[in-house]
Amino acid sequence: MTDAIIEVREINKSFGENHVLRDFSMDVNPGENLAILGKSGSGKSVLIKCIINLMKVDEGSIKVFGEDISALDQELLDRMRARIGFLFQSNALYDSMTVRENLEFPLRRHWGKEQRKKGAEQAVMEALEDVALSHTIDMMPAELSGGMRKRIALARTLILRPKIILYDEPTTGLDPVTAREISNLIIKVQKKYSASSVIISHDMNCIRLTANRVIMLIDGKCYANNTFGELLNSTDPKIQEFFE
Ligand SMILES: Nc1ncnc2c1ncn2[C@@H]1O[C@H](COP(=O)(O)OP(=O)(O)O)[C@@H](O)[C@H]1O
Ligand SMILES: [Mg+2]
Repeated sequence: MTDAIIEVREINKSFGENHVLRDFSMDVNPGENLAILGKSGSGKSVLIKCIINLMKVDEGSIKVFGEDISALDQELLDRMRARIGFLFQSNALYDSMTVRENLEFPLRRHWGKEQRKKGAEQAVMEALEDVALSHTIDMMPAELSGGMRKRIALARTLILRPKIILYDEPTTGLDPVTAREISNLIIKVQKKYSASSVIISHDMNCIRLTANRVIMLIDGKCYANNTFGELLNSTDPKIQEFFE
């Protein structure tokens, strides 16, 4: 028995000849920020998609909140996904909707009409306050900078108060100052909501700032499982490579 929020056990995932994940295992503990560091193409996004069952593993098992995700029917899977926030690399905001409408979107899917009538306005306002963008409520995504769009995407993720947040390359493509803002927001979210987070990244600064623990994904395996400081001081050439 473990009290892990996510338990990944010896999963394998291939695309044809391309064996991406090889007996990969990991745990995510309650309330922690876990970073997964790996080169481009190492399988980080595939791993995250397997965790929410957007992709099926070939072998191995994944438990989320103690439940084997492969055993859930569509309804239970939907209910589980409502408790998991996913910040896509591409943000995936709806360009034809205002910021408010973008934030209301998950509520329309997961809240009943009564609940929305009572709480939607407040939920949208609070989520926007969390990312310090209350003034953008009536703007269109195209009017916002890349960093602001990322923050709105995060607000939309937070609106359902997820117990798990999966961040896919949250700072990629952002300038260093904006990247730091996003890292600080990730820390703030952890403190405020005590959610467990998985942060997939190759941005060392983001990982240094946000992660309580770091897993290295190398050759499809969980290669190292340490604090950032331990990795930084490692003499292993495969680990040192990331710090050059
Ligand atoms: N839907 C797919 N079909 C075929 N190959 C895929 C698919 N998704 C990912 N891959 C391959 O899996 C490997 C890992 O991809 P990915 O997880 O996106 O890497 P990253 O670590 O950069 O996020 C890559 O070689 C990629 O080409
Ligand atoms: Mg990726």
